[in-house]
Amino acid sequence: MYFPAYRPRRLRQSENFRRLIRENSVSIDDLIYPLFVVPGKGIKKEIPSMPGNFHMSIDILIEEVKKVRDLGIPAIILFGLPEDKNEAASGAYEESGIVQEAVRALKKGVPDILVLTDVCLCEYMSHGHCGIVKDGQVLNDLTLELLAKTALSHVEAGADMVAPSDMMDGRVAVIRSTLDENGYQGTPIMSYAAKYASAFYGPFRDAAESAPQFGDRRSYQMDPPNAMEALRETMLDMEEGADIVMVKPALAYMDIIQLVKSETCYPVAAYNVSGEFSMVKAAAAKGWIDEKKVVMEILTGIKRAGADMILTYHAKDVASWLK
Ligand code: PBG
Repeated sequence: MYFPAYRPRRLRQSENFRRLIRENSVSIDDLIYPLFVVPGKGIKKEIPSMPGNFHMSIDILIEEVKKVRDLGIPAIILFGLPEDKNEAASGAYEESGIVQEAVRALKKGVPDILVLTDVCLCEYMSHGHCGIVKDGQVLNDLTLELLAKTALSHVEAGADMVAPSDMMDGRVAVIRSTLDENGYQGTPIMSYAAKYASAFYGPFRDAAESAPQFGDRRSYQMDPPNAMEALRETMLDMEEGADIVMVKPALAYMDIIQLVKSETCYPVAAYNVSGEFSMVKAAAAKGWIDEKKVVMEILTGIKRAGADMILTYHAKDVASWLK
C-alpha cells in the first residue's frame, strides 16, 4: 500500500488551518471606488449597464461618499459628465467644471477619504476621443497641454491624487512638471500605465457617455496581445514621475499585473473595469453564479497576481461583506 509522505490536505482540513497558511487576502484597505458625477441637483439615476452604479449630482454624491468612507474605503475616483461637450474639451479643465466643483464640495463635506480624479478628455470632447482630433487623427503633443491643464485644475480644486487615463505619450511628465511648477510637488500621480484597447470598457462608455463617435482608441491604447510593451509603458511612466502604476483591465491581464509587480518596485493598481463588473452582475441576476463568492475570488486573484490596490465597482459590497 502506498502512503504519500506529504499530504497537502492536512493543512486544508479546517478553516483555522486554512487561515494560517493563506497567502493572500483582500482587505478594505485595497479598495478604490469609482463614482460618476453629473450637473444638477437631487439626481440619482442608475446606469442601466452597471446595476448599483449611478449618475449622481454633487449633493447626492456627498451623501454617497460619506457612506463609502464609513465603510472604511480609503479612496474614491471621480469621473465627470459635463453639461456640454465641445472640440476643445473645455469642461475638462474649467474652474467651474463638474469634477472641479465636486472635488471642492467633497473636500469640504467629507474628510478622511482620498479623492482621486480621472484625468482624460473623452467625456468632454464632442467626438469622444481622449485627445485633440485633426483630420481624423488624435494629436499627441497638442493634447498634452490640455491634460496638464485638466490635472492642475483638479489639484487646485483639492484632488488628493490625479490619474491620467488618456494614453498620450509624455503625459505623466507634462502633468508632473505642471503640478510642480504650481507648488503641488506633494500631489502624487497614479498613471494608467498599461491601459489596453479593451472591449471590457463598454458599460463605462455608456455610463460616461464617452464612446468615440468615429474610429476607436487603438492608436493610443495598447494592443491586447502585447506584454513587453506594457513594461515599456510602465517604465516610461515611472521615469516621467508616476507614483503608482496601473494595469487595466484586470481579468484578461493578470499576467501583466504579475509582470509589472515583479519587474518594478512600484505600487501597482489594477482596474477591475466596467465590463468585468457587469458580466458578474448579469450572471448573478440570472442565478447562474454566487455573486459574493465570485467577486471575492476575482479580487483575491487580482491581489495574488500582484496588485496592491484595486479600482472596482464592487468596492462597497466588498467592504460591507468584510466588515
Ligand atoms: C477614460 C476612461 C475609460 C475608463 C476609465 N477611464 C474609458 C475608455 O478608455 O474608453 C474605463 C473604465 C471602465 O471600463 O470601468 N479614458
